[in-house]
Amino acid sequence: MPDSAFYAAVETRRTVRDFLPEAVPQEVLDRAVDAARLAPSSSNLQPWEFVVIRDPQVRQAANAACLDQLPAKTAPVLIAQVTHRDTWRRNRDEILRIFEGRGPLRPSQASYYRKIIPLVYTTGPFGLLGPLKRVISRVASLFKPTPNLMSRADVRVMAHKSTALAAATFMLALRAEGYDTCPMEGFDPWRAKALLDLPRHAEVNMFLAVGRRSETGVWWDRVLMPRDWVVREI
Ligand SMILES: Cc1cc2nc3c(=O)[nH]c(=O)nc-3n(C[C@H](O)[C@H](O)[C@H](O)COP(=O)(O)O)c2cc1C
Repeated sequence: MPDSAFYAAVETRRTVRDFLPEAVPQEVLDRAVDAARLAPSSSNLQPWEFVVIRDPQVRQAANAACLDQLPAKTAPVLIAQVTHRDTWRRNRDEILRIFEGRGPLRPSQASYYRKIIPLVYTTGPFGLLGPLKRVISRVASLFKPTPNLMSRADVRVMAHKSTALAAATFMLALRAEGYDTCPMEGFDPWRAKALLDLPRHAEVNMFLAVGRRSETGVWWDRVLMPRDWVVREI
């Protein structure tokens, strides 16, 4: 039997653009963040960070960075979902530390996290190794299946992909709690980065406005592409 609560959350989640001024309980936010932390990520490297904007002055500037979109202005909570493309080394070390704390490292764990991960994610000073790695993997792929040994741009895509999955999980968890969200990529990335004091290799993946929908919160009826445009069997 399908889990009807899960489908109810998926089906009732809508992008909400006008929120009630009601606060979101901290425990609700905590549970949703902890659900999002379970999202899958590339090599389990969890390149995300949830920045909950509490300071009223920062919040005002963040609303402006979100181009003063109504969801940003009306939501009781605004979160910047940040992606870090250079935390893979630190997080790889943490994964190894945790594995080792649980018992002897398995050979597959050692080889994956000690050899394969650095090979795939290292791009060298100024990313100079990246183009070379791409060429090597493209040529090797002509002869046998080969993973993409990543360039700097590929690592950035990897980090954004995984972070967006955490954002999706977070939004569905909040819906399961009876709350609503608006994901926003309509924002000024330079101002957002400066405002949140993000390090060089971090970026806002999207802003998430969180709260409870007002009566006029959902602007349009749902529109879906035809199923056969988006599903293909070969
Ligand atoms: C990555 C991403 C960025 C989005 N950016 C914005 C945005 O800046 N402003 C906004 O009002 N909606 C934004 N949306 C919401 C979409 O417009 C919305 O998901 C889409 O119209 C489908 O509606 P639904 O979420 O209610 O099903 C964004 C959604 C995603 C996934």
